[in-house]
Amino acid sequence: MIKKGNLWSGRFSASPSDLMEKFSQSVSFDKRLYKHDIAGSIAHVEMLAAKGIISNAESEKIRDALKEILDEIESGRFLWSVEQEDVHMNIESALIEKIGEAGKKLHTGRSRNDQVSTDMRLYLMEEINSICGLLNAVQLELTHRAGQESGTIMPGWTHMQPAQPVTFGHHLLAWNEMLDRDYRRLRDCYERTNESPLGSAALAGTGYPIDREMTASRLGFGRVMVNSLDAVSDRDFAIEFASCSAILMIHLSRIAEELVLWSMPSLEYIDLGENFCTGSSIMPQKKNPDVAELIRGKSGRATGNLVTLLMIMKAQPLAYNRDNQEDKEPLFDQVDTVKTCLEVFLSMLPGIEVFPDNMAKAALIGHQTATDLADYLVDKQIPFRDAYKIVGRIVAYTIWNNTHLHEIPLKKLREFSEKIDSDVFETITLDGSLSRRNHVGGTAPIQVRKAAQKAAKKIKSRSA
Ligand code: ARG
Repeated sequence: MIKKGNLWSGRFSASPSDLMEKFSQSVSFDKRLYKHDIAGSIAHVEMLAAKGIISNAESEKIRDALKEILDEIESGRFLWSVEQEDVHMNIESALIEKIGEAGKKLHTGRSRNDQVSTDMRLYLMEEINSICGLLNAVQLELTHRAGQESGTIMPGWTHMQPAQPVTFGHHLLAWNEMLDRDYRRLRDCYERTNESPLGSAALAGTGYPIDREMTASRLGFGRVMVNSLDAVSDRDFAIEFASCSAILMIHLSRIAEELVLWSMPSLEYIDLGENFCTGSSIMPQKKNPDVAELIRGKSGRATGNLVTLLMIMKAQPLAYNRDNQEDKEPLFDQVDTVKTCLEVFLSMLPGIEVFPDNMAKAALIGHQTATDLADYLVDKQIPFRDAYKIVGRIVAYTIWNNTHLHEIPLKKLREFSEKIDSDVFETITLDGSLSRRNHVGGTAPIQVRKAAQKAAKKIKSRSA
């Protein structure tokens, strides 16, 4: 970083102290916006020329120099200066240094207030698209795996107690639904981000005969923002993105937690693969699920970023306030966190090994087909509450006799209710229980296969 003399010092006689400069600079982090800043500037000068506010020759000179600057930045030759405070003034002052008089016209009819918001929206739209691409890839892997595991029986829990058997495929599709809502929320957030603030200038618009539609469409925005005060001050798009991605991260934390639990040696439903685990420096036997734990842990910072953004905006009067500079680090961190976690999760998924025997054995623990037995009695014209009581007594019997519901001889079962016949075993085995749940959203293998295909088709159609 070098010192060059800053662009905003018109009325000032003294230079800012080093402390003040260090405190107020944002270039160390907002330089990330360089590409979008330059794109915004090029659209702006081309519009200025089209409207006769500057000459075509000036506009071309500015555009070519901005492209050179882009090149310098991307090849690492550009010298960022703290004294120039932020990405916008670094690029503008480099432009002036390069081409002199024409460069001084870039900022005509524009303010850093509409500029920064334009840059951030362009940046975020690109990142939302790349996050949605990652989500699609994760969802495709989940639905593919769900199809393969449509008949794999595992215990379903409520309160972390054995409840009713489900298939592993069904569980994977539940994850897919969570992530599918995240995808749709992000698409929705994209829609509101896709609006151009450019032309709002500092807060009140500008006296030049600008064409806001032209800059908006050159930059690929869907529409212009219709109120200049709102346009320069609004950070809803950042909050909304942080919110969508915090929910997504909470989903990943729930998934990660299940992976951690299932890989415990005492359950051993799955193996996470050595690439995604670490050992202990003291306990030679350990294989710890650190990657899943880190994903789980990072949901904390994602929630923190959302709260940070909300608090930055709380009670801010119109229009732009410098508080808004504080929006960048949480927003960037949110983007990085979500992307990294999705990338890691995506690469971890294919290596997860499933142990169907252990899952099936666990599904036999805790009388998980008791509800099916009650439903069976209801089928035989016993009111549900009576059926519930009868099955309660049968469950007590299995506990005292250390057996499973489906292992009780028919003769014994009939002592509890004469309505029980040999067809009961079609219901109270794990397979029987699963196959009866044969409706949309149910866990019957045939439904899970169908649901997996349908979900995969939907994902493929939107990524095409
Ligand atoms: N670096 C500033 C930000 O991030 C740019 C806008 C500054 N505007 C101003 N009037 N000081 O918000």
